[in-house]
Amino acid sequence: MTTMHSEVPSAKRLGTAPAVDDLTPPERMSVDELRAVQLERLQWTLRHAYANVPFYKRKFDESGVHPDDCRELADLAKFPFTTKQDLRDNYPFGMFAVPQEQVRRIHASSGTTGKPTVVGYTERDIDTWARVMARSIFAAGGRPGHKVHVAYGYGLFTGGLGAHYGVEKLGATAIPASGGMTARQVQIINDFRPEVIMVTPSYMLTLLDEFERQGIDPATSSLRVGIFGAEPWTEQMRREIEERMNLDAVDIYGLSEVMGPGVAQECVETKDGLHIWEDHFYPEVIDPVDENVLDGGVTGELLFTSLTKQALPVIRYRTRDLTALRPGTARPAYRRMDKVTGRSDDMIILRGVNVFPTQIEEIVLATDGLAPHFQLRLTRRDRMDHLTVLVEARSDTPRDRRPIAAAEISARVKDGVGVSVAVEVLDPDTLERSVGKMRRVIDQRPRD
Ligand code: DLL
Repeated sequence: MTTMHSEVPSAKRLGTAPAVDDLTPPERMSVDELRAVQLERLQWTLRHAYANVPFYKRKFDESGVHPDDCRELADLAKFPFTTKQDLRDNYPFGMFAVPQEQVRRIHASSGTTGKPTVVGYTERDIDTWARVMARSIFAAGGRPGHKVHVAYGYGLFTGGLGAHYGVEKLGATAIPASGGMTARQVQIINDFRPEVIMVTPSYMLTLLDEFERQGIDPATSSLRVGIFGAEPWTEQMRREIEERMNLDAVDIYGLSEVMGPGVAQECVETKDGLHIWEDHFYPEVIDPVDENVLDGGVTGELLFTSLTKQALPVIRYRTRDLTALRPGTARPAYRRMDKVTGRSDDMIILRGVNVFPTQIEEIVLATDGLAPHFQLRLTRRDRMDHLTVLVEARSDTPRDRRPIAAAEISARVKDGVGVSVAVEVLDPDTLERSVGKMRRVIDQRPRD
């Protein structure tokens, strides 16, 4: 812990900021050491945000709190939340805490409606991000010297460039494939023989089908580790991909507002949820309704407070992702979060029952004869909402199996989720394929 007080070069308005750690030492920290680092960094972040972002000054003043009120980590609960709407209201750069000359990069996440959310990074933020990504790839089983095929999109989306810098920081070789041109991706994987692939799980399925279309058994590819994230996916999907590809599939989580990919990572040796890199991102889980902080093990909405970010500090940012915090395992000091199987805004409320697309994914993948490709169509008839599950048959599934599979899904959804749905089993290769984040729900209800 000798590097905590280094001066930030040419960042006068920042004052003294904590320095960024190396790849491995923080992973061996004790919980007490980690809590001490977090408190110091949290106090710095609150001061930095208050001094340099008018939005935070106003919000803190209105709530009657001041950065000096944070004397222990639990005091964070006194501070106000930040939401995606706050970022939109300050579009594009109003939440930045450093002068523009110190911003080296901008990313943006395109929401489904309205303006994108804009995020910025100083040189040191980019370095921090590369380090947490390198840590993540290492925890997933990637090693210096490996070749890493990056099929997350490059561009304003944080996936491609975030992964890329982490691969380089780790001392591995980046293959910046980006998303799309699926046939060529398969050719590159065959010819360049990467050990690791980083891609959304839904685009991995598209690639898997393309391997098979080209007459190549995906299990014979060079890939040994898949680092999948940016969208929810289930244990059933893990099994499907691991079996067909003969690799270890691990989960990576992150969001633009907090950094990008690399906020939390599942370790390949345990595959038991995602270790949050808490020396940079401080997690809390709240009850989304009464907004109180929940104990470990209880599922609620995940919040993050950045601890080292210069350009865009975020205080108690409401991710809308639902999860629970658990004690660390493979990285003992770092708490884990459960796999995120839904966000509050993906949730379909069907006749009063909450339905997450991942619940349907589990059922589809557990039903014989069906491919892992499905979509959910929402329609309205007679002032009632209806949900139809569209799913493809596998190419070797006999036709007379289809109505039986449809009936099985509808019975399992009724039993397990508690709603009645229609199911259509379609020919193989009929549904739209993902090249990045998959759109699972097609909402055809008339707008009120
Ligand atoms: O999706 C960052 C990322 C890129 C993460 C590549 C992992 C890999 P955004 O576009 O801002 O950033 O979207 C963030 O995606 O709040 C979650 O709802 C969802 N998400 C990200 N990772 C996972 C995951 C990137 N592993 C939003 N499981 C987040 C479930 C995830 N949902």
